[in-house]
Amino acid sequence: MKSNSTHDLTLDCEKLPLHVAIIMDGNGRWAKKKMMNRVKGHEQGSQIVRSIVTAARELGIGTLTLYAFSTENWARPKYEVQALMILLKKFIASERKELLKNNIRLNVIGQKHKLTSDVQKEVDITMELTKDNNKMLLNLALSYGSREEITSAVKQIAEKIASKSLDPKDITQDLISDHLYTKAMPDPDLIIRTGGEYRLSNFLLWQAAYSEIYISDTFWPDFTRDEFIEILKNYQERDRRFGKVACNTSNDG
Ligand code: IPE
Ligand code: IPE
Ligand code: MG
Repeated sequence: MKSNSTHDLTLDCEKLPLHVAIIMDGNGRWAKKKMMNRVKGHEQGSQIVRSIVTAARELGIGTLTLYAFSTENWARPKYEVQALMILLKKFIASERKELLKNNIRLNVIGQKHKLTSDVQKEVDITMELTKDNNKMLLNLALSYGSREEITSAVKQIAEKIASKSLDPKDITQDLISDHLYTKAMPDPDLIIRTGGEYRLSNFLLWQAAYSEIYISDTFWPDFTRDEFIEILKNYQERDRRFGKVACNTSNDG
């Protein structure tokens, strides 16, 4: 249910999601609508990231994960992939100061080794510089694919069994979670997808087991802080049951 009170942006601080993950989709269609090249959409999209990171930090969200480039996105035309890598490099370099100033730690989930060497370099420098920051964790999902992540976890676990450092009977859900890129992070409470598509596109499949999902028709380059807050309000109105019965349901029938 969407709240009607678009101007009342008050949030309940007690019910903030610990982890918000965003599928930032719609850059290409935004550009197309304006008769521009898709790359223009990515450029505009990268401008929006800063405002949402700032909003998340100010609101007190502990972990923000942004899906910026998927394992499947490598199959896009070469010029688009190159443009995305250049934008990523610029973005990470230009945000470094802001992250330091705002006590935000940068982390990457995904196949960091597959990124171009200059992107990797910017990522490594920024991750190292911000490693002790503790106001918010900013996870960039880069060359990220959930199936790749799970496959890699299975391989690591199999290797431990083969070397006898792990007994199959000790495989638990927590152990599997500990072999994912999101190890030690809370599962996303809320997954937002902009651009209006109703799918997860290989994003956090294991971690999304009980995530609340919000699909916005807004193309990512048009996404705003106000819409973000509205979505958080919508989240706060939901009844998360985790398979159980609602908290206010009486037991004695
Ligand atoms: C999301 O926007 C950004 C990336 C996937 C890198 P798209 O480029 O997918 O935009 P649409 O979905 O084609 O509009
Ligand atoms: C998902 O968007 C990936 C990112 C936003 C980085 P896509 O545009 O790649 O997903 P599909 O192709 O619509 O499923
Ligand atoms: Mg898309």
